[in-house]
Amino acid sequence: MREDGLLAGSALEEDQTEASLRPKRMEDFVGQDPLKDRLGIMIEAAKSRSETLDHVLLSGPPGLGKTTMAVILANEMEGQLRLTSGPALERPGDLAGELTNLSEGDVFFIDEVHRLPRQVEEVLYSAMEDFKLDIMVGKGPSARSIRLDLPSFTLIGATTRLGKISSPLRDRFGEVGRLDYYPPEDLGLIVVRSASILGVQIDEAGAAIIASRSRGTPRIANRLLRRVRDFSTVRSDGLITAETARDGLLAFEVDEAGLDEVDRAILEAVIDKFGGGPVGLSTVAIAVGEEPETIEDAYEPFLIQKGLLQRTPRGRVVTAAAYEHMQRIPPARLNHQQTLLD
Ligand SMILES: Nc1ncnc2c1ncn2[C@@H]1O[C@H](COP(=O)(O)OP(=O)(O)OP(=O)(O)O)[C@@H](O)[C@H]1O
Ligand SMILES: [Mg+2]
Repeated sequence: MREDGLLAGSALEEDQTEASLRPKRMEDFVGQDPLKDRLGIMIEAAKSRSETLDHVLLSGPPGLGKTTMAVILANEMEGQLRLTSGPALERPGDLAGELTNLSEGDVFFIDEVHRLPRQVEEVLYSAMEDFKLDIMVGKGPSARSIRLDLPSFTLIGATTRLGKISSPLRDRFGEVGRLDYYPPEDLGLIVVRSASILGVQIDEAGAAIIASRSRGTPRIANRLLRRVRDFSTVRSDGLITAETARDGLLAFEVDEAGLDEVDRAILEAVIDKFGGGPVGLSTVAIAVGEEPETIEDAYEPFLIQKGLLQRTPRGRVVTAAAYEHMQRIPPARLNHQQTLLD
């Protein structure tokens, strides 16, 4: 997926630090306790029976820890992790190639599993259910199907769009786990943990400021920490306090609610160009110069969760809170709604 604004970043920097900050064990994975508990039980049970872990589907917005959790599951099960993604598996043969390379107990991770082509998805069904691979050999009248045995493996699927997963595929996962936006307390712990790995000095108040502006997202918390670290290296003594965090984030145009420039551009477009809505997703996308899918997956869930935007059958509508946040005067109808709510 293409990502802009705060969700983006230099790919190199991303790879290097994300790898070092990524928790490797369940106990290092902060928050999401209900999901961790369920997966913990599954791991322990599978281990005690010397079986492979059942297939797991992980859904949730970008940067909340789906890939991280796949890595952890592989480590906890002491299996090899094999990574691929829906769009990379173009033909059934691509998937067959991956599957036949698996060993007993491997964790096979398919990112963006909602983007698997249908014919490829169908090959996955018997692989998941019976650890069998049905492939066609030959062409025309001499074509026949052969069935190969596969080692027992665990499939971890990740998706930002649970609604796009077909039910036959979804039903073949033993567990469907949803990752939710993290509360500030959890993000604070993530910031402190990352700071200690990076050797950055930060006090509790500084971590709290970064946490509160991270859009509920660990990846963004880590990125803001790196930006504030840069700022404090250059402009102050290196210790990150509430003041350095505030000034640093201001310098990088992150507002108090954690909205970045794309979030603000979306609200601004709906307010200033379309009278507050309703306006269609594709029109909003054109107005801010982003892909509709990026807006829908990466930006809207947070704006909706913050109570700034609503999805209605007629299109996107901003709330009175959005007018206030963007320092615009809300139209009378929204004021009226607001008083009714109060
Ligand atoms: N629960 C957590 N505790 C600590 N750090 C976390 C947690 N979840 C995510 N992170 C950090 O956030 C980064 C992004 O997480 P990850 O890559 O797993 O997200 P994702 O859900 O796979 O995102 P995408 O949908 O974009 O692939 C990780 O490198 C990790 O450092
Ligand atoms: Mg990922």
